[in-house]
Amino acid sequence: MDSVSQVKQALNIVDVIGKYVDLKKSGRNYKGNCPFHSENTPSLMVSSELQIFKCFGCGEAGDIFSFIQAIEGVEFPQALERLADLAGIVIEKKNFDPDHELRKVIYKINADTASFYNHLLVTHAVGKPGLVYLKEKRKLTGTTISDFKVGFAPKTKSWDLLTSYLLKKGYTKEQLLRSGVSVEGKKGLIDKFVGRVVFPLRDVSEKTVGFTGRTIYDSQPKYLNTSETLVFHKSSFIYGLDRAKLAIRKEGAVFVEGQLDVLTSHQSGFLNVVASSGTALTTEHLKILGNYTNQITFCFDPDKAGRSATDRAVLLADKFGFDIKVALIPSKYADLDELLRADPLEAERVLRDAVNIYDFYISYAMSDNDATSSEGKKKILAYLAPKVSLISNGVTKDHYIKKISAQLDVSEDVIRDLVAESSVDIDEKLKSAVVSTGLDSGTKVLIEDYLFSLLMKAPIDLANDTVYKLDASVFTLENRDLFSSLKDYLLSAKDIFSIKQFTETIQDEILRKRVMDLFLFDYKADLLDNDKVLKNELADLVSRLRKEALRRELKTLSDQIKVAELGNDSQKVKSLSQEFTKLSKKIKEL
Ligand code: CTP
Ligand code: MN
Repeated sequence: MDSVSQVKQALNIVDVIGKYVDLKKSGRNYKGNCPFHSENTPSLMVSSELQIFKCFGCGEAGDIFSFIQAIEGVEFPQALERLADLAGIVIEKKNFDPDHELRKVIYKINADTASFYNHLLVTHAVGKPGLVYLKEKRKLTGTTISDFKVGFAPKTKSWDLLTSYLLKKGYTKEQLLRSGVSVEGKKGLIDKFVGRVVFPLRDVSEKTVGFTGRTIYDSQPKYLNTSETLVFHKSSFIYGLDRAKLAIRKEGAVFVEGQLDVLTSHQSGFLNVVASSGTALTTEHLKILGNYTNQITFCFDPDKAGRSATDRAVLLADKFGFDIKVALIPSKYADLDELLRADPLEAERVLRDAVNIYDFYISYAMSDNDATSSEGKKKILAYLAPKVSLISNGVTKDHYIKKISAQLDVSEDVIRDLVAESSVDIDEKLKSAVVSTGLDSGTKVLIEDYLFSLLMKAPIDLANDTVYKLDASVFTLENRDLFSSLKDYLLSAKDIFSIKQFTETIQDEILRKRVMDLFLFDYKADLLDNDKVLKNELADLVSRLRKEALRRELKTLSDQIKVAELGNDSQKVKSLSQEFTKLSKKIKEL
């Protein structure tokens, strides 16, 4: 058996997802609050029988692998590796990685280094200056220090406290150099970080890939970062993502400039704050963040450098399709960290009132063109109209149209036309034939979908009675095959509906997926427990379905009548009209 099947067999999706989400049994499935979007009423459904999940709120769906990929922001191989770990299965590495062993050692050295420095900071006398600095000067609490495993690298005469500790543990000099925690000194290896508070740089899977050290003695440079190693690449590293990822999924990301901004933010309850480390924002950062959210707020320093970093970041993030905001820190504060310590309420306001990117776009376009000439106005609108057309919220859209109109002194109608020209049609297909269901989320779904989902959960006799009375022709074209398969299966099934067996009878991949989705629909508790209620609901659905089918027939007839009228075929108009009247009566009787 291949490793994928092995892992699948060894793990139950309910346990795997249960590690992230509080799952409760609901009928034959489980449900909980979706970790991929913000919600108070559970719409994440998990099926133990099918080993799949689906969120009916945000649409995220799949198996254990896709769940881990989505929630951890990793690719399939890493998801497989993690789940194999969890299942205690050893998987063979397909591609031989010549650095595999060294990479593993570097991770270990980093982990040991983080523990060593943290231990010195928190419990040891030599850590006192670091602790005083962090607690008194930076106002960090013990909890924050332990959450981020902050440490302290003391200044000693020989500058080799860590190096000699690690050598004693058995690591070689070469390994220490390759991990970046030690560097070549005049008389052999010395520690890279001395007289600095040390922040372990942890990746999304909480592995320590490197360190940033901030001097507590005004040494230069103020910040020192691990150089590139086999495991640390600063251009793709996001500080704080290990702790922020879930909050980012729900609330979007706030991107700040420094480690301390991240620490202070988290300490103040802003759990979605992250930073780069020793580099400006890169496309790699954005690709990674894109795994978690499409909403990003930049909160850079209010100085000139911060402003130009913001301009750059916004243009970059725009290319990646992020929904972008800018949080503007009052210029009397150096950065978010300082603002948070000085005036937490103001900081909260700044983050909450982050300026929408459209305000940014407007000032950007205005500053780039002459807003008083007609040529300039044209250019500005050519730039802004497509952007405004993408705003999904009507109120927001209206707001910006009015704003642009006022600022450019161009009539709202003209702008509305330009915006409309560049907008795309929305698929309105789902608007027809929806039903308010007994679904727990109170959502509306298509009648046929609702009926299918109930038939899979109803007692087999009742389901049988229902399908027996129905003909495939009352279903819309795209559902006729599904109905026939379901009918065949139900008429041959015994005792209980087995979703596994039923899905195995379906050849078409897409259809099989849909069936699984339908099986995950959740109902109000009393619907499925009470045969009588369920019977009524099914009967009601059947009659609505028939009505729908007749209505479709009516529509066809009225189209035919129109054609006949156009062709002046009065004979045909008459007969079709009679049919139409008969059918209308039939609908009323149903
Ligand atoms: N940084 C760096 N190397 C430097 C200076 C800064 O890598 N020589 C990075 C660090 O990650 C730091 C961030 O840039 O967290 C912000 O730097 P800076 O604005 O200088 O930080 P301050 O807020 O001034 O630092 P502090 O609050 O610690 O005084
Ligand atoms: Mn600062």
